[in-house]
Amino acid sequence: MTDQHGTIDSHPLDTETYPPSAEFAAQASLNDSSVYWRAAEDPENYWAQEARKLQWSRPFTETLDWSNPPFAKWFADGTLNVAANCLDRHLAAGLGDRVAIHFEGEPGDTRTITYAELTHEVKRAANMLTSLGVKQGDRVAIYMPMIPEAIVSMLAVARLGAIHSVVFGGFSAESLRARIDDAQAELVITADGGNRKGRVSALKPTVDDALALQNGTELSVKRVLVVQRTGNDISMQEGRDLWWHEEITSYDGEHTAQAFPAENPLFILYTSGTTGRPKGILHTSGGYLTQASSTHRNVFDLKPETDVYWCTADIGWITGHSYVVYGPLANGATQVVYEGTPETPDWGRWWQIIEKYGVTILYTAPTAIRACMKVGRQVPEQHDLSSIRVLGSVGEPINPEAWRWYRDVIGAGTAPIVDTWWQTETGAMMISPLPGLTTLKPGSAQVPLPGISIAVVDDEGNAVDRGQGGLLVVQRPWPSMVRTIWGDPDRFVETYWEKFGDQYFAGDGARLDEDGDIWLLGRVDDVMNVSGHRLSTTEIESALVGHHAVAEAAVVGASDETTGQAVVAFVILKSQQHLLTPEEAEQELRGHVAQAIGAIARPRQVFVVNELPKTRSGKIMRRLLRDAAEGREIGDTTTLADTAVMQTISLRMRSDQ
Ligand code: PRX
Repeated sequence: MTDQHGTIDSHPLDTETYPPSAEFAAQASLNDSSVYWRAAEDPENYWAQEARKLQWSRPFTETLDWSNPPFAKWFADGTLNVAANCLDRHLAAGLGDRVAIHFEGEPGDTRTITYAELTHEVKRAANMLTSLGVKQGDRVAIYMPMIPEAIVSMLAVARLGAIHSVVFGGFSAESLRARIDDAQAELVITADGGNRKGRVSALKPTVDDALALQNGTELSVKRVLVVQRTGNDISMQEGRDLWWHEEITSYDGEHTAQAFPAENPLFILYTSGTTGRPKGILHTSGGYLTQASSTHRNVFDLKPETDVYWCTADIGWITGHSYVVYGPLANGATQVVYEGTPETPDWGRWWQIIEKYGVTILYTAPTAIRACMKVGRQVPEQHDLSSIRVLGSVGEPINPEAWRWYRDVIGAGTAPIVDTWWQTETGAMMISPLPGLTTLKPGSAQVPLPGISIAVVDDEGNAVDRGQGGLLVVQRPWPSMVRTIWGDPDRFVETYWEKFGDQYFAGDGARLDEDGDIWLLGRVDDVMNVSGHRLSTTEIESALVGHHAVAEAAVVGASDETTGQAVVAFVILKSQQHLLTPEEAEQELRGHVAQAIGAIARPRQVFVVNELPKTRSGKIMRRLLRDAAEGREIGDTTTLADTAVMQTISLRMRSDQ
């Protein structure tokens, strides 16, 4: 298998290596490689030991129930409260005065929130939600900016044994509504707006639009709770909408957390699949919290007493769930939460935040690193980043050039980089170096974490040899694995388990080097990865053909220097639309997609063409379109019904660029 997306810029086999420094290894919590073979000998026992680091109300006696694959149950007869594990437990251990969150708003406002204060706020919010009727198993949609109340909301929902469905604040009204409908959420928690790029980005009006959509589905939402953040003018619907700050005053901070079974659902998070309909990935409590906290501790070599951790992800994505909310808080870590974007008011913002709070562990995405690289090293060099001791990367393969820049410029040439591979479905990290143990190779996520079994297999499911490529599978169940797709167990089985039986098919291509290290090569399905965000080609195509002027559309992910991949669309306009020039069509349709799905899905380019390359059976050959979009020689066209089509498209594109 070759690198389909051109994201790896050097050959894996002749790469340089970086062993951990003696100094780092000496202080690392995990610096004895026997952890790998001990975990491999008895993975269930390894995870049971990790799970026992949490606080259980009723200890579990059974670790894994895999009697009905692929529906796993972990620690099923144990009970716990996820929020109490992230909060009350630390207070009981005398850590109430430890800072949980250093909040930094984009306009420069700040809040310091200790574990005692966070616990108090979550208890009050839990009381408020209870009086609004929220109880175990109910779904609550959260559509918020990156502010402390977003985290408080998630934990309050979890505390009641209810299920949150966080929808990224950049999604459109239509996307929000589709998620609300699918989960049948009765309550939405939102804010008037958030601060982004120096402007107020309104949220409540989008909620209003979402709830007003007449889409043939009866609206499940009864109440909307609105946090006041930006003060922009919004309308409140009598009897439905409530201000958080007015409502919360009626509730005190007395709340006893009830224990729920380990398999009690914790959250649904929607992610893009190969069809137009997003999948509601369901995660449960005990196994999820075990792996989120264990990997957060081990992969970052976390020292909760002294580290200041910062993960730049938004809570709208899985990284925000596992490595802003549940992992760090379960570990009693001190972390930075930043509301805004890295370039506001200028590209020095992140580095200024690191200097200000003495951040020791930074976890971010390659796309952000590449954007900072473009701006230049002189910007971070104006700041004292000497507190940094571990760097993390997530979301897409990190190209070796960006890796080296990250280590040299941000990590003073010494900080280990942990390149963590995982997915919304895996819930927590699966493949990553351990910073005190692994000799690093720029561009490779390298080794499965202890207790995780991964293989690279051929189309028949046979493990490939070293030096070969294939498909990535997980061979044994893991604690934080997706339990099902909300409301659609058949799709769950079909998507991940039908291809290789009891091995989980991740949808990623990978290659093993001669040392057996794993190099991720990108998706092998119709899922794109733009700035570390997952987008479905089909979902964008449906949005395009939803436009009155479009007859047909094909979308591909073309490699992009900054964002990893970028959305490139090819459309055929309806014949009566000949008055729309290609330039007008491009502008109109880019905006249309942003409106329909959200700005993250806005195509980089839209090309108007007369025909699309199709096989004789009518299947669009996206592979050829990707060749064209990436400016490559067009590949094998012999299976095309009309072999001249690609020539015409290439000419069309050249005249445009
Ligand atoms: O293709 C892989 C890529 O991101 C996909 C998962 O996307 P999502 O569910 O949105 O979760 C992203 C954050 C965990 C994977 O199928 N991916 C994620 N991390 C890496 C990666 N590809 C290469 N290297 C990584 N470290």
